[in-house]
Amino acid sequence: MSTDVTAAVSITAPVVLQARLLSLRWEAEGVMSLEWVPADPAQTFPAFEPGAHIDLHLPNGLVRSYSLSNDARERNRYVVGVLKDHGSRGGSIWVHEQLRPGMVLSISAPRNNFPLRPSSETQVLVAGGIGVTPMLSMLRQLAAQNKPLDFVYCARTRAQAAFLSEIQTLVADHAHMTLRCHFDDEQSAPPNLKALLAGYTPNTHMYCCGPGPMLDSFESVCAELGYPHAHIERFTAKAVAASTTTNVCHVELQKSGRTIEVPPHLSVLDALIEAGMFPDHSCKEGVCGACETRIISGEVEHLDSILTKAEQAANKTMMICVSRCKSERVVLDL
Ligand code: FES
Repeated sequence: MSTDVTAAVSITAPVVLQARLLSLRWEAEGVMSLEWVPADPAQTFPAFEPGAHIDLHLPNGLVRSYSLSNDARERNRYVVGVLKDHGSRGGSIWVHEQLRPGMVLSISAPRNNFPLRPSSETQVLVAGGIGVTPMLSMLRQLAAQNKPLDFVYCARTRAQAAFLSEIQTLVADHAHMTLRCHFDDEQSAPPNLKALLAGYTPNTHMYCCGPGPMLDSFESVCAELGYPHAHIERFTAKAVAASTTTNVCHVELQKSGRTIEVPPHLSVLDALIEAGMFPDHSCKEGVCGACETRIISGEVEHLDSILTKAEQAANKTMMICVSRCKSERVVLDL
């Protein structure tokens, strides 16, 4: 995932908001949308950009990230879509079976690892299944700005395609927008991304959110077709080789003036927590970007699912929940 986000990690407890669930809405087979409003009606929510996500702090102790799907100009509500995942480790099942309107939960302020880039060309959004949620917010913004867009929506079946009629209406109302849908059961095959994405210029910005295999395929198709501006959002960690780092590292926290020893069995994040600090974090899997921290000096083994290869090679930031220190001393902007 390409990101322009600058480090937002603090060593104090991160901002948490109180939100009340106003409504739960059935959107498609297995998909509910959740509409959150500030628990205090006198408040508004922090602003967000399309592509952003929030964390829900569930009462069962789990923290789960969900992309915002509503209009980014709205400050009075956040809307997320949640797929009931039968391989769930307790997050989406709890949301579908226990969460009810009126309940108040803690949520994080929005974070964005998947922003729209400025472009005068047609932009291409490729959504796979529940990956449609950030795309819907992007679509709303591009429609409001009357920008050209091609939207590709893939799902296993039409019945599982959340927000489809809303997307169809938005695209139909805008002359410079197109929508192509692919439903596996109707075509008796998975989508042919190479065919769907052929014919654009190398300047085109391509965005994809969906299941891991689709993202892997999207990245290789974009490379093959010569599209350098390919942006993805993962909601599960990609498979990465196990860390090869076995040394004890000393992490110097430049702002706080402390140095923390990180043994090889601990992540930097866990070592900081053990030392009594509260760095912002959520997934602990290198997916959400909450713990992204600026590197001032030192070598790092990047094991996250967010930064592109070029961004990892640039070594400007690291996800301290999964990435490891290669050099004996690493200086971080904390
Ligand atoms: S906590 Fe999510 S990327 Fe580190």
